[in-house]
Amino acid sequence: MADVILKNVWKKFGDFTAVRDMNLHIKDGEFMILLGPSGCGKTTTLRMIAGLEEPTEGTIQIGDKLVADPKNGVFVPPKDRDIAMVFQSYALYPHMTVYDNIAFPLKLRKVPKDEIDRRVREVAEMLGLSELLNRKPRELSGGQRQRVALGRAIVRKPQVFLMDEPLSNLDAKLRVKMRAELKKLQRQLGVTTIYVTHDQVEAMTMGDRIAVINQGQLQQVGTPDEVYDNPANTFVGGFIGSPPMNFMDATVTHDGFVDFGSFRLKLLPDQVEVLEEKGYLGKEVIFGIRPEDVYDAFFAQVKIPGENMARALVEIIENLGGEKIVHLSVEDVLFTGKFPAESKVEEGQEVDVVFDMRKAHVFDKGSGKAVF
Ligand SMILES: Nc1ncnc2c1ncn2[C@@H]1O[C@H](COP(=O)(O)OP(=O)(O)OP(=O)(O)O)[C@@H](O)[C@H]1O
Ligand SMILES: [Mg+2]
Repeated sequence: MADVILKNVWKKFGDFTAVRDMNLHIKDGEFMILLGPSGCGKTTTLRMIAGLEEPTEGTIQIGDKLVADPKNGVFVPPKDRDIAMVFQSYALYPHMTVYDNIAFPLKLRKVPKDEIDRRVREVAEMLGLSELLNRKPRELSGGQRQRVALGRAIVRKPQVFLMDEPLSNLDAKLRVKMRAELKKLQRQLGVTTIYVTHDQVEAMTMGDRIAVINQGQLQQVGTPDEVYDNPANTFVGGFIGSPPMNFMDATVTHDGFVDFGSFRLKLLPDQVEVLEEKGYLGKEVIFGIRPEDVYDAFFAQVKIPGENMARALVEIIENLGGEKIVHLSVEDVLFTGKFPAESKVEEGQEVDVVFDMRKAHVFDKGSGKAVF
């Protein structure tokens, strides 16, 4: 088991920079998620940790061993890094049984036969594959095959697991089940795990911490609650959460409101204080609030007309059964609210909405960085 430390890591492919000055410290035993949109550099980062790519610049450390340091000519090949990888397209050997597929990495390392047998059976038990050891991959369901691939990775007890979207080939229901199983397994084994996904729900539910990446650049690292409640910038605010955070152009007034033109909302005293301190009074900003913090006034606890309320037109309702995603407008200002199923709103009608200003965010209009 081991910490994994990336310091000022860059990866360039010709002129193109895939990973830009990445600094990340993954702690021993931690389940770290690399989250970001397609092409942001997640797989490239993982491949550098695995030793399948060499960084252009910077250092990578696994445990107490420096595994990549191009400036000093250090590059430890994958087989000497004591890592195990599971990829999206996990290739099992089709002609081998489940038993032999799992045993394969141990055979390769010339582990004694009875030791192999003990470990294969232990892993199979853990993954619920004990009854299937004599089957061939084609005789298994997608989820079972996925578990064999996992078994093959964990049977070696490596220092670090690297997983690249390992659940993306599974159907939605199985994915939810495997998510929980994988997380439980990781807890049991306590092996440092770096898990790549572009699925924010997967990230929120599985990770001890999440590293959010965009265009090769680390945006924020934090626990699921931290990145959800205190996004560092509009990218993180918009990427995590479904439906995404509302972003609305506004001006901060000198009397402590955010003014959207067609309506305004009163900021809390400590919010005004921060904005004043940082020179935002009278300035244009981006106001952010999550849909679940926009209430149908009927269900809101604190209603203060002229301070935290607005009368909005209901444009479209997406009924999800347990709740309603309501698309609202006040003239040309658009936002969504997540209302309870009992809400009586109807399309084309007006509704009083309440903003929970304690949950409001303000971002710099130029940089997108969070003021709070
Ligand atoms: N060998 C390569 N040569 C040139 N460009 C590459 C190479 N490998 C990756 N890239 C580019 O680097 C960027 C990051 O790729 P990467 O595979 O790391 O993205 P990703 O975050 O894993 O995306 P996805 O979610 O689609 O898997 C992409 O723009 C990709 O086209
Ligand atoms: Mg990828």
